[in-house]
Amino acid sequence: MKALVLAGGKGTRLRPLTYTTAKQLIPVANKPIIFYVLEQIAAAGIDNVGVIISPETGENVKDAVGDGSRWGIKITYILQETPAGLAHAVKTAREFLGESPFLMFLGDNLIQGGVEAFVRDFAAGEAGAFILLKRVKDPRAFGVAVLDGRNHVVQLIEKPKEPPSDLALVGVYLFRPAIHMAIERIKPSWRGELEITDAIQELIHMGCPVEARILEGWWLDTGKKDDILEANRVVLDEFARRDVKGEVDGKSQVVGRVEIGEGARVINSVIRGPVVIGSGVNIIDSFVGPYTAIAGGSHLERVSLEHAVVLENCRLVDVEHIEDSLIGSNTRVVRAGGRRRALRLFVGDDAEVVI
Ligand code: G1P
Repeated sequence: MKALVLAGGKGTRLRPLTYTTAKQLIPVANKPIIFYVLEQIAAAGIDNVGVIISPETGENVKDAVGDGSRWGIKITYILQETPAGLAHAVKTAREFLGESPFLMFLGDNLIQGGVEAFVRDFAAGEAGAFILLKRVKDPRAFGVAVLDGRNHVVQLIEKPKEPPSDLALVGVYLFRPAIHMAIERIKPSWRGELEITDAIQELIHMGCPVEARILEGWWLDTGKKDDILEANRVVLDEFARRDVKGEVDGKSQVVGRVEIGEGARVINSVIRGPVVIGSGVNIIDSFVGPYTAIAGGSHLERVSLEHAVVLENCRLVDVEHIEDSLIGSNTRVVRAGGRRRALRLFVGDDAEVVI
């Protein structure tokens, strides 16, 4: 069994962060999303992994992820020149995949509990494909499936206006090589992409059985700002531990599950978990509340912050209360001196400031 991880795409819904980084590298609880995906693949016993990258962010992904040795897997990078759809990505990886069955995992999706059981069931059965589904309130933003009474898929539609069920396609799929023939037979969709959803529907037309499993645990599709905050909340809730490596002075209070990295300093501050603080961060005269992740190298002074993600090397000084926020790397949020109170903004394209 091989695995194919998709780490291309433009990430337009996560601008401005994705002007400078791949959406799959945005950290959740201070760890890039794609790292969770690769951990879950390794835990399922798959060690031959292809990673699809784009010309825009491919080098970033390679630098961050490396050759896979840290997870005991071997990674082959495959360049997809244009973001022409998930089925197009499979087509691009045709040589790497050969005649092997494979797990396809979207590099910006996280699921609870990993993929081991799912991979095991698929390997033991005969189905041409296995899909993973999750009941959602509004399925219109996803691929949607209709099942018969025995978990066999009878119909699949990509982003339907009138969804025939509430079962959304999670970005985790298992295929046998018949999928390549199905991909050859489909045409681009209305959004100009070769959709994997259409290819799976084509498999069903070809008489190949497609089975589904419904995920009971959480599924996070981290495509938008609020999704990242939610992912951060859920992952901190589940995985944050108490692990204080940095220095906490006698006037500070660190309560609950709080991770503080090497070389970080907490001075005269209150930290209430679950919180993750990266290495070398300074927190001075501040309050950091639950569901917050602060990446390495940031400096917080006289700040109150909760339910927020702060990426690397930020400077937040004299700001009363920041919440529900996603702050990109190297950002400065400071209070100006002087009598005239005014907002002075230097904000990147596609940013959002709510006052
Ligand atoms: C893609 C798939 C869709 C699936 C979703 C899961 O959508 O086309 O069927 O439900 O991933 O994240 P996209 O992210 O390309 O809009």
